[in-house]
Amino acid sequence: MKSQEPDPNYFSSSSSSSSLVSSTKWWSKETIAIVTGANKGIGFALVKRLAELGLTVILTARDVERGQRAVESLSEKGLPVNFFQLDVSDPSSIEAFVSWFKSNFAALDILVNNAGVSFNDIYKNTVEHAETVIRTNFYGAKLLTESLLPLFRRSPSKSRILNISSRLGTLSKVRNPNIKSILEDEELSEEQIERFVGLFLQSVKNGTWKSQGWPEIWTDYAVSKLALNAYTMVLAKRYEGEGISVNSYCPGFTQTSMTQGQGSHTADEAADVGARLLLLHPQQLPTAKFYIGLDPFVKSNL
Ligand SMILES: NC(=O)c1ccc[n+]([C@@H]2O[C@H](COP(=O)([O-])OP(=O)(O)OC[C@H]3O[C@@H](n4cnc5c(N)ncnc54)[C@H](OP(=O)(O)O)[C@@H]3O)[C@@H](O)[C@H]2O)c1
Repeated sequence: MKSQEPDPNYFSSSSSSSSLVSSTKWWSKETIAIVTGANKGIGFALVKRLAELGLTVILTARDVERGQRAVESLSEKGLPVNFFQLDVSDPSSIEAFVSWFKSNFAALDILVNNAGVSFNDIYKNTVEHAETVIRTNFYGAKLLTESLLPLFRRSPSKSRILNISSRLGTLSKVRNPNIKSILEDEELSEEQIERFVGLFLQSVKNGTWKSQGWPEIWTDYAVSKLALNAYTMVLAKRYEGEGISVNSYCPGFTQTSMTQGQGSHTADEAADVGARLLLLHPQQLPTAKFYIGLDPFVKSNL
């Protein structure tokens, strides 16, 4: 594989945190990364960036043809990557993928849960596809993560999971105090997150979701990302001190199919920041953080 050495300043944030300046390259071709939903958009750009930096990358896509086309386009650039079909909303597809991974790779270092859907036009808000949105953006990421957790290497470099999330899914967007208090609970559990998601789907079924204080923009998508952020926190806590870091990253308003090409920056720019976060030196790698936007290291909690 033709790999491109990073710019010496690659890990130096121009805007903040001097502790990031001394990062050194810790990864190699033996470092294995999986990216979901990677046939286009931010996922594709992330695969490209990680391959340029010399990792072994597995590009996954729900559609085999679209996935293979993406792999070919990288191969033409001298960036060979591995491919396997993976529909994160389908448990049997997850099972087949994990089984393929186990028989082809010794261990996993990096998982990027990037696959996501929204059925909204930019200024519209429909919950018609709420179940699919929740199943893909939250349950898909969760089931895949849980299935891959036993395969993480954990040592010597810290293993890492990055959930591609959205600022639309932050607690500040929730106006209902009861829902907010579930998510603010210090002892938040996976059961509570699923209860919260269940409450939302129930309110969609009842037709009461508009009056219940759920997020007002891209409501179903925002709920799916809120659940994903909450799961990030719970998982990070579960693996604290156990060699797996778990963080979320909102790439900001990015020009992809999801935004009908609108946005303040390209998928490559969003992926560049994502790659910086993913490849932070083990000693500088946080856990349970939510990174927002293109200013690389502006981070907050849920
Ligand atoms: N663009 C933004 O402004 C923005 C902002 C914040 C967060 N995000 C997040 O960034 C991530 C990437 O989105 P994007 O902007 O790059 O959108 P995109 O270009 O529409 O890409 C989404 C990717 O997810 C895949 N996907 C959808 N459902 C899937 C499933 N069930 N299983 C596997 N893959 C599936 C899509 O595959 P197909 O090609 O087969 O549909 C596509 O490859 C998403 O999680 C999104 O929520 C985006």
